[in-house]
Amino acid sequence: MKKSDAVSKLKQYDQLHILDFYDSLSESSKKYLLSQIDLLDLSILERINDDKYSKRGKFEPLGALTLDKIAENEDKFRKIGLDTIRNGKAACILLAGGQGSRLGFEHPKGMFNMGINRTLYIYECLFNNLMEVTDEAGAFVHLFIMTSESNDIETRQFLKENEFFGYNEEYVHFFIQEMAPVIDSENKILMTAPDTIAMSPNGNGGWFSSMDRAGLLPFIQNEGIEWLNVFAVDNVLQKMADPVFLGATIDSGCTSGGKVVSKADPHERVGVLCTEDGKPSIVEYYEMTKEMVSQREPDGQLSYNYGVILNYLFKTDDLMKTLDKKLPLHMAHKAVAYIDQNGAQIKPDSPNAYKFETLVLDMIHMQDSCLAYEVVREKEFAPVKNKEGVDSVDTARELLKKNGIEL
Ligand code: UTP
Repeated sequence: MKKSDAVSKLKQYDQLHILDFYDSLSESSKKYLLSQIDLLDLSILERINDDKYSKRGKFEPLGALTLDKIAENEDKFRKIGLDTIRNGKAACILLAGGQGSRLGFEHPKGMFNMGINRTLYIYECLFNNLMEVTDEAGAFVHLFIMTSESNDIETRQFLKENEFFGYNEEYVHFFIQEMAPVIDSENKILMTAPDTIAMSPNGNGGWFSSMDRAGLLPFIQNEGIEWLNVFAVDNVLQKMADPVFLGATIDSGCTSGGKVVSKADPHERVGVLCTEDGKPSIVEYYEMTKEMVSQREPDGQLSYNYGVILNYLFKTDDLMKTLDKKLPLHMAHKAVAYIDQNGAQIKPDSPNAYKFETLVLDMIHMQDSCLAYEVVREKEFAPVKNKEGVDSVDTARELLKKNGIEL
């Protein structure tokens, strides 16, 4: 791209400041900056004011398959799930493209060591959990790991060096998600260096379209993979390819499933699985009216009781049909390092910037039906989000210990 083309592209979106340092750059840096501008999809800036929430429909409660019902039918569900795994009809998608800014760890989150007297990486916890299932089934499942441009190489190297913690490497595949520019509160794109535009991974909702771009969908179809289990990297108690969850979802006839936990209290800050205009959906805690928060069923149970934990099952065929649909865009307020007008490096402690993100939870609303599948929080949900306090390394360590894992 020539400088004149860059000027007209940026001018159209009022982003000319990106070239502020251009004249002082070396020839190679000039080229580098122009190549980034060339690849930049500025049309995303037109969606800044997409207000997803003003367009929400009518919410109604959705019951769950509760722990007692699951226990009653566990053998049946487990058999269906294990058969599905043995027949190669299920695969896992690990969402690991995030930047983990709240944790403030310099490497991909999965490389974080949860151990105290020994090393126990987050990735190791996940592979151990997955291998419990594959050992029981006597068959491996394909595991697709979504990384981002910022952490792809390091993630691959780390897993290779650690020999995939004993998992069969032939069943591990990587794909890279797309990036989007980061803006400040005046909608100006930030720079991280005079020749570098601030970019961030575009959220975890783009995983299926990123798999499509990576050319993985023909593989999935040829292998006959019918179910995709999608989950976050940062839950160290994450149960993947859980045969009982898989079997229960198949048995229910639903086209998707979501693991849920009973709310700890009515005001807990979690997204709740419900219906919206008759279709499955997730209502965020801050979208719920006072009435919804306190509404109860005849048996006394909260009507909006089941919080999602980012572990979903999707049917491949149904996802194929949604490929051309756009997911709502969220603006995530985060702390992002940048350079100011004088070129000085600024490392903010509090959120200063907005990232454009689509979310996997919004994919649920594109499905015809979803089974809310209840799990025991203390056994399956130990997210590592923050340095300290709620959902932190310490709380996750406690839960690992409670589950008999030595640290
Ligand atoms: P979070 O929403 O917690 O984001 O991700 P994060 O980037 O990891 O952490 P913070 O908010 O900056 O502290 C939930 C899951 O979605 C993945 C993460 O890797 C994690 O498994 N994710 C998130 C992606 O794969 N891509 C993204 O762009 C964002």
